[in-house]
Amino acid sequence: MLKGKSILLGVSGGIAVYKAAELVRLFVKAGASVHVVMTANAQKFVTPLTFQALSNNAVGSDLFSMESESQISHIQKARMADLVVLAPATANLMAKMAAGIADDYLTTILLATTAPVLVCPAMNVKMWEHPATQRNLRTLAELGYRIQPPAAGFLACQEEGAGRLADIEDIVESAIRLLTPPTLTGRSVLVSAGPTHEHFDPVRFLSNPSSGKMGYALAKIAARRSAKVCLVSGPCSLDAPAQVERICVTSAIEMRDVILKISSKQDAIVMTAAVSDYRPSEKAAHKMKKSPEGLSVLLEPNPDILASLGAIKPPGQVLVGFAAETENLAQNAKDKLIRKNLDFVVANDLTRQGAGFAYDTNEVKIIERSGETSDLSVMTKEEVASQIWDRVERLLSGGQK
Ligand code: C5P
Repeated sequence: MLKGKSILLGVSGGIAVYKAAELVRLFVKAGASVHVVMTANAQKFVTPLTFQALSNNAVGSDLFSMESESQISHIQKARMADLVVLAPATANLMAKMAAGIADDYLTTILLATTAPVLVCPAMNVKMWEHPATQRNLRTLAELGYRIQPPAAGFLACQEEGAGRLADIEDIVESAIRLLTPPTLTGRSVLVSAGPTHEHFDPVRFLSNPSSGKMGYALAKIAARRSAKVCLVSGPCSLDAPAQVERICVTSAIEMRDVILKISSKQDAIVMTAAVSDYRPSEKAAHKMKKSPEGLSVLLEPNPDILASLGAIKPPGQVLVGFAAETENLAQNAKDKLIRKNLDFVVANDLTRQGAGFAYDTNEVKIIERSGETSDLSVMTKEEVASQIWDRVERLLSGGQK
């Protein structure tokens, strides 16, 4: 995800410096080349050696080091970065940035760089809430710096409140987002995900093993590309991706009602939800008692949400369906494409290893209206999501349907 990208990580002196070490590891794992610059105070918490070992690059800290100054290294460092991340960013660093002060290696780089800068503050809650810090924060936002707000919780200073460095995973996600071309800017997209639960009493329901992973990956990738994303999710255990509006529903009827209310405003809709085809005709008000005679539950068909969307599709909207099959994959998927009036269908063979429910990977065939079929190899669900959005973008920009 960060392959070929150069990240400059600026570390200033707060107790959260130790968390920045993990950040380096995750950036490197995602494929970035990482160059760390530490303030003098940061080095009192963790030595440069740790960051050097994790980043595999020399750590910068001294503006007047002869060796680096022979190459005007602060200017070089400022130029080579695709992204600057400041974590932790102390109140002092933020104050200096707001005033345009450049009195050490890191702040000099910050004035010289034209790369986006992600500021991740971490400090005591009172320092965070101080009007001067809040004023500096507003100034930084006005100057175009991106802010990753601190999390609330129990702080190292034994106080409770906002000031903890944001979760490392959230910082990584923000960095990826800042480095992803915003190809879906101005577009609204809707993704449905997960299973539905069709209750026949308050504690029992009919469902399927859908984990929601494919839909959540689609929502995450669309958000990275700067779309306005609405994720309508059936019950599952996943956290909502960053920058995504999630609406949680339980049954197919609820999912249909939510989706139909907002469908006309969407530029694209991708239905990955494994909507239950049937629901019990009746739901008992109380938990049904166990009985030796067994239990028969009468089922009635649920509405087909995707088919309804296909029937009312506004011009220009891109509609994508999924087809999970255990036989005649291509033919069944093509039939669905026509019957539900889709622009393309993503078909997966549930009998294949590493494809379908609950896996982190998927192996899919994408069949377009034109008849063009792409057989994608086994890849992560995020990679499948990227392939899907690439096609949606092509269709939205007037590509062949
Ligand atoms: O016809 P089938 O259920 O196999 O079609 C799968 C596609 O239709 C998926 O995109 C799924 O989200 C959608 N679907 C739906 N409403 C249903 C059943 C499936 O929107 N009741």
